[in-house]
Amino acid sequence: EAAEKGGYEHFTLKEIHEQPAVISETLKGKIKGDSAIIDEITLTEEELKNITKIHMVACGTSYHAALVGKYMIEQELRIPVEVEVASEFRYKNPIIAKTDLVILISQSGETADTLAGLREAKKSGAKAIGIINVMGSTISREADGTVYTNAGLEIGVASTKAFVSQLVALYILTLYLGEKKDILGVERRRYIIENLRKLPNIVDKILEIEDDIKEKASILDGVVSSIFIGRNINTAIAYEGALKLKEISYIHAEGYQSGELKHGPIALINEECPLIAIATKSDTYDKVKSNIEEVRARGGKVLTVATVGDVEIAEISDEVIYIPEIDELFSPVINVIPLQILSYYAAVNRGVDVDKPRNLAKSVTVE
Ligand code: G6P
Repeated sequence: EAAEKGGYEHFTLKEIHEQPAVISETLKGKIKGDSAIIDEITLTEEELKNITKIHMVACGTSYHAALVGKYMIEQELRIPVEVEVASEFRYKNPIIAKTDLVILISQSGETADTLAGLREAKKSGAKAIGIINVMGSTISREADGTVYTNAGLEIGVASTKAFVSQLVALYILTLYLGEKKDILGVERRRYIIENLRKLPNIVDKILEIEDDIKEKASILDGVVSSIFIGRNINTAIAYEGALKLKEISYIHAEGYQSGELKHGPIALINEECPLIAIATKSDTYDKVKSNIEEVRARGGKVLTVATVGDVEIAEISDEVIYIPEIDELFSPVINVIPLQILSYYAAVNRGVDVDKPRNLAKSVTVE
């Protein structure tokens, strides 16, 4: 097993470090020139043109990828996207038109509720596409096409590299739909592709500051609870950061939309409940900054993930993790990395079995 871990103490850490290579693998073979190529999609040109609404259905970390995907597709393609947790979707008698597209996101391709969501979609006569890591899994076999994420085998129960690969697959699907539906012109597609190609290097740069993040994880020593905030496309990254922390360190964590902080969660802030804020450069940067100030004014401790060069943020934060700058559209891919590392070291500091947290399963194939 030690050999399989490639010198890392846990599979989770190894998988965190594999992410630059995984992003390249997800992109491999799916971009040709200025176009996204997804051979496994069986929808006709006409069926693709007719799509007017998208549903995304998933569980756990994959659900957070779907939430990012919603922002991405709505911003880039202006097609409305509804995201639903699979266990809700399957029993809500969802309204699905034949011209809707249902996207199932699942690392394993075997999650019982997500599979049931797929069958629900098919019953309505709508087309369904999977974003799946495991080749030949049930969802990929039953769907009308699959975007394979090619993240390789993920052993850590808490998903890291599979999540990042799902995000990349969603950008590819956005490009694909955007071209097929004549929404994204060649200039925009080129811009998106250029940015996707930059991601492995940027993630590498964040992995280089692992020791710095490890040190900053001490802000979580002895805390009872924590609150993560993000906004817009990074709201789901706050949710994912909080999920990662509770899954592997057992520290209670809530992910919140930054603007909702004052409507409840700020009441929890005290010495034992720090704020973890995603405040990288974005259209709503100033809003998140003022949320941080509100917490500080109430004596709360703050760790901020910010864009390199942002000196102001250091004045209102106890700790800052600086990461490289990128267009907000792609920032979820890089913002999640320091949060994964933070959770990992918070868990290690508490002596938790990081790869196999109690009560959790890698794949939930029963209801
Ligand atoms: C389990 C795992 C999570 C995962 C979720 C969905 O709860 O512990 O890490 O996100 O299932 O799994 P899927 O294979 O459908 O992505």
